[in-house]
Amino acid sequence: MERTLVVVKPDGVQRRLVGEVLARLERKGLRLAGLKLTRVTPALAEKMYAEHKGKDFYPPLVDFITASPVVAIVAEGRRAVAIVRTLLGPTNGPEAPGGTIRGDFGMSRRHNLVHGSDSPASAEREIAILFAKDELHDYQIADETWVYER
Ligand code: RTP
Ligand code: MG
Repeated sequence: MERTLVVVKPDGVQRRLVGEVLARLERKGLRLAGLKLTRVTPALAEKMYAEHKGKDFYPPLVDFITASPVVAIVAEGRRAVAIVRTLLGPTNGPEAPGGTIRGDFGMSRRHNLVHGSDSPASAEREIAILFAKDELHDYQIADETWVYER
């Protein structure tokens, strides 16, 4: 099964949307493999957002992601990376379609509530930044045979 990193960003935690995000991931049929409330330090932010270093929005992005705790989630399932990106919606909240998390709750491009890895390779790299191996759990969920076709 594929794993992806989801982060409820500081605005999502401040707006009490953690349960909402978790509910949407669970209802879709994804399985939680890791979950914690944590603080992204400037050093971790630099690693997480290495691809954006040098861009004009990088300094305010680092200030934002380090401003208040986040909830880090590892979600697992078939094609989890792409499925989570669909659930989150496009980056810019005002343009995101209704039914997506950013479309339903977001009014900003930077304060867009959630992060989702953009490829399986990014997911592996990002999960290793925020989680130790023993914080990730492999287990079966009883109804999985009903979630997927065989
Ligand atoms: P994410 O990485 O958070 O899942 O979001 P994404 O792939 O949709 O967006 P990405 O291009 O990776 O940008 C990372 C985060 O930086 C902020 N951002 N600000 N022009 C801007 O002001 C701008 N562009 C991006 C957003 O918080 C975005 O999620
Ligand atoms: Mg991204």
